[in-house]
Amino acid sequence: MTRPASETPYVLVLFYSRNGATREMAEQLAAGVESISGIAARLRTVPPVSTTCEAVDPEIPAEGAVYASLDDLRHCHGLALGSPTRFGNMASPLKYFLDTTSELWMNGVLADKPATAFTSTASLHGGQEATLLTMLIPLLHHGMVYAGVPYRETRLLTTQSGGTPYGTSHLAGAQADRPLDDDETALARAQGERLGRLALAMRSLHEAT
Ligand SMILES: Cc1cc2nc3c(=O)[nH]c(=O)nc-3n(C[C@H](O)[C@H](O)[C@H](O)COP(=O)(O)O)c2cc1C
Repeated sequence: MTRPASETPYVLVLFYSRNGATREMAEQLAAGVESISGIAARLRTVPPVSTTCEAVDPEIPAEGAVYASLDDLRHCHGLALGSPTRFGNMASPLKYFLDTTSELWMNGVLADKPATAFTSTASLHGGQEATLLTMLIPLLHHGMVYAGVPYRETRLLTTQSGGTPYGTSHLAGAQADRPLDDDETALARAQGERLGRLALAMRSLHEAT
């Protein structure tokens, strides 16, 4: 299903965040997307999951980004996927949402769209790269074209905190109270700008199918 041509194309910035660090990254990345003329950023989150099967969340969260729908994903022109690192992997609420996307997968809806990923950790060597690489796997199953962060972003060479060629990252610290520093902010913005440019450039690829 193609998106109505009259709508502004958008990059879906889809993230989960419990303590706010990944949300802060999402906002910087979205600002990068929005700095590109002709494309918008759509910030969406996913609800937490609970081991109590009866637990239900309101359809609209009390604050922050609203919950993503499959249509947000269906009609996007690019996807930035963000998650806290949990044992070197993405958090289960995000995986849970991705596990509901079979219908999009069967119809190749996300094929030929650009995607990227970002994560936040408590410790510097706590699995940022492992998380980013494992987040890439479902995106490849969907046929998306993965875009990391190229080394022309020279902060990759000098950062003392987050930032990887696999996607951006943030060191939140053991107390989860370390804000994004200048390198992490600039890299997240650059990642958003790149994804915005790629989404516009690749638009004809997936709109033709
Ligand atoms: C269950 C669980 C597992 C975690 N695993 C890791 C980990 O493997 N490495 C790490 O550095 N931090 C780990 N953390 C810490 C979070 O990744 C970190 O606090 C992150 O910045 C939270 O992002 P948020 O503020 O967006 O929720 C873990 C946290 C939880 C709750």
